[in-house]
Amino acid sequence: MLRFLTAGESHGPCLLAIIEGMPAGLPIDVEAINHELWRRQQGYGRSHRMNIEKDQVEILGGVIKGETTGAPIALRIENRDWLNWKEKWEQNRLEPLTVPRPGHADYAGMVKYRLKDARPILERASARETAARVAVGAIAKQLLAQFDITVGSYVCQIGPVIADIPPRPYAELWKLADASEVRCPSPIDSERMKSAIDEARRARDTLGGIFEVQALNVPIGLGSHVHWDRRLDARIAAAIMSIQAIKGVEIGPAFENAGLRGTQVHDDLYLNEEQTIMRVTNRAGGIEGGMSNGNPIVVRAAMKPIATTGTPHQSVDVVNLHAATPAYQRSDICAVPAASVIGEAMLAWVLAEALVEKLGGDSLEEMRR
Ligand SMILES: Cc1cc2nc3c(=O)[nH]c(=O)nc-3n(C[C@H](O)[C@H](O)[C@H](O)COP(=O)(O)O)c2cc1C
Repeated sequence: MLRFLTAGESHGPCLLAIIEGMPAGLPIDVEAINHELWRRQQGYGRSHRMNIEKDQVEILGGVIKGETTGAPIALRIENRDWLNWKEKWEQNRLEPLTVPRPGHADYAGMVKYRLKDARPILERASARETAARVAVGAIAKQLLAQFDITVGSYVCQIGPVIADIPPRPYAELWKLADASEVRCPSPIDSERMKSAIDEARRARDTLGGIFEVQALNVPIGLGSHVHWDRRLDARIAAAIMSIQAIKGVEIGPAFENAGLRGTQVHDDLYLNEEQTIMRVTNRAGGIEGGMSNGNPIVVRAAMKPIATTGTPHQSVDVVNLHAATPAYQRSDICAVPAASVIGEAMLAWVLAEALVEKLGGDSLEEMRR
């Protein structure tokens, strides 16, 4: 069984991850992990923090001579911002945050953990944690690549701007997205999205949006129809929804399908010239009955607008019980492009997990067999 845990605070010394169950003999490309970390830090509309952090992974266990050994893999990513916080943190000079910020984990976390200070909650709820997940996902991608499975993504919508995605193969769209500051494969819509972000910034406001993640060359039969927690669509939805600020997930164009007739939605099968069974369309997003069906897996996710807005929300000071506005913390205006990279990591992770389950084996060699 593959699993991972992360630890670390947003402004603490570092982020950590431990991966368990990765088969032995998988070559690990550290620069490819760092490249994924770099991709997570890109995107028009991010905060100044992205100029401070230059994420690099350190592998502290489970990899010897560039290959996994089957032992737990330990990863560490330093928080460069820690240097700006260390003294205040260690000398206990950080003011308590007693006014919870709407849209954040603050209030529920303060009540749940009986705290009068939101800081311990926001330090861990922060999406800085996703740097560790992207490093884990990069290793999952490297396992998938051994079986020619690839994962990519692009942004379809930012705020009110809905992109007209060109009808090109996914691999081409991924390249176009990588070349766009908002990870949108349509250059015209990329500019419109950047303008929407500029407008939101000027209005002291924030934006959300929609991204799509795809996995290609996934073999038929990952996941299973037999139990709720083995269904691949359910597992993918949970993994994508676990990303901070993701509030909606669909497999394929599910919400659009809901308004159509059955004959317009379900993907007909046919025999091609090589006598291979193919599909006319992929409106199921590559999953039927909780199992991959051989088509590209397509996952769409809705991200809410960034919760910290320059225009203050209304709140209450939990200590003196007066109406108050929360302190403004440096913040992104829009983080949908970064979220799409995190979405890739989470989809890669779930597929790696399902592949290891299906093929078994303690080593890559056994998996291949
Ligand atoms: C890549 C990424 C960056 C984010 N950056 C910020 C940010 O700068 N400011 C903010 O208020 N929320 C940001 N968020 C969202 C919050 O972390 C999230 O909304 C909050 O922790 C509450 O969790 P929930 O929205 O999942 O309920 C970001 C999310 C992601 C995925």
